[in-house]
Amino acid sequence: MLPESIKRILAMEPTGQAVQTGGWVRTFRSRRFIHLNDGSCLSGLQVVVDFEHMDEALLDRITTGASIKVKGTLVASSGKGQQSEILADEIEVLGDAQADIDHPDFYPLQPKAHSLEFLREKAHLRFRTQTFGAIFRMRHAMAFAMHQFFHERGFYWLHTPILTASDAEGAGEMFRVTTLDMANTPKHSDGSPDFSQDFFGKAAHLTVSGQLEAELGALGLGKVYTFGPTFRAENSNTTRHLAEFWMIEPEVAFADLNDNMDLAEANLKYLVRYALDHCAEDLDFLDQRFAKEEAGKKQEDRSKYGLIERLKLVAEQPFERMTYTRAIDLLEQSKPNKKGKFTYPIKGWGTDLQSEHERFLVEKEVGRPVILTDYPKEIKAFYMRLGEDNKTVRAMDILFPGIGEMVGGSQREERLEVLKSRMKDFHIPEEEMWWYLDTRKFGSVPHSGYGLGFERFLLFVTGMTNIRDVIPFPRYPKHIEF
Ligand code: 4AD
Ligand code: MG
Repeated sequence: MLPESIKRILAMEPTGQAVQTGGWVRTFRSRRFIHLNDGSCLSGLQVVVDFEHMDEALLDRITTGASIKVKGTLVASSGKGQQSEILADEIEVLGDAQADIDHPDFYPLQPKAHSLEFLREKAHLRFRTQTFGAIFRMRHAMAFAMHQFFHERGFYWLHTPILTASDAEGAGEMFRVTTLDMANTPKHSDGSPDFSQDFFGKAAHLTVSGQLEAELGALGLGKVYTFGPTFRAENSNTTRHLAEFWMIEPEVAFADLNDNMDLAEANLKYLVRYALDHCAEDLDFLDQRFAKEEAGKKQEDRSKYGLIERLKLVAEQPFERMTYTRAIDLLEQSKPNKKGKFTYPIKGWGTDLQSEHERFLVEKEVGRPVILTDYPKEIKAFYMRLGEDNKTVRAMDILFPGIGEMVGGSQREERLEVLKSRMKDFHIPEEEMWWYLDTRKFGSVPHSGYGLGFERFLLFVTGMTNIRDVIPFPRYPKHIEF
């Protein structure tokens, strides 16, 4: 039988009932009080040991990090900080953890604060820490809320492929998938690899987005969304990029850009609300952690708000909606631009926005999330709907304080001829995209969608600053050990 989780035990009325549980020892004080945690929630359970009647050798093995099984009775606690505790009748040590600091296998997680960098190297142990416990419980809650949000609105979860032959974003940052012998690749006469002899009979990659396939789904099912891993081989060693990240991509038939913005804003607010309503214990912990981190920063770099405060603001205030053209005006006139403080100066209309610009807009200019729309067609993807002005596309990016781009989306070009001419501009061969173009041939409708970067969003709700700390096994340049 499975032992009761500590989360469930803590929710019980303590009446002296028999309970059985298991977990990892956080601390063992005075050979009497074990602080036990099993990952089910942030709090641990106090186990009281009747040390006079227990085997000395057994007590010696109850060390930080050891796993134990406990049988005992649940009683009201007289100590402060907890409502109930277990009076142990029987303790079994299942797995020891070396407590001798001079031993090569010394348990590395001691009851003190460890740096996030240190923990990133301790792949499995970081799940045992309070910080990562809180983060990954929240990650689960947010994934659950995401599905609930779309399910409540009549969307169907569409499982788009991970292996693909198309480059949806046209960004050329794809990981190749092949079964060809690297040492002996079949080649064309010009020396280029002959992928017709590869597994799929053509070049294949890991997907950078499920959007194009989601569009096919939406143009039959109406409202769909994808939620899965996405891969980008961009060599950006930043705190906001991963080589493998999770993306949520809703796609809605008959929806225009305004509908798309409304949906995305409702989506983000729903998740934040859900976190505030259902993750109180973990969020309180992360809020305190955030406050400590902020206190260590220079005054001018400090966040104006606490973590929970910031979440409440986002859940309550409407996002600011602004065109790219207006944003460029603001940025051109801005102090950092005039004083040459931007690494990439604003060179008039058409300049692609960098994250320094995005953050200036949200953090300094507006002070809350901003939805930027109608970007120059040259700096956005081929599938975005061309505006009446022939210069802009009906794109939208949602920018968040502290993070920059959280969401990227658009209304799609539903007119076959316009789409074809846009593909020509981007040198995308029609033959390879016949299956996509078909959707515009038979019963095409206006439709829209967006991509929400799950880890970027988790940075925002957990108050963490490095994207590597909100995914269980981060993948980034030169890191794929575990
Ligand atoms: O703006 P992006 O590239 O948009 C698309 O892929 C569209 N196909 C989405 C759509 O319209 N269906 O990516 C969407 C979001 C970004 O806003 C960002 O939050 C996240 O995905 N993202 C990354 N997150 C982590 N690491 C990376 N390397 C990321 N690249 C994009
Ligand atoms: Mg984008």
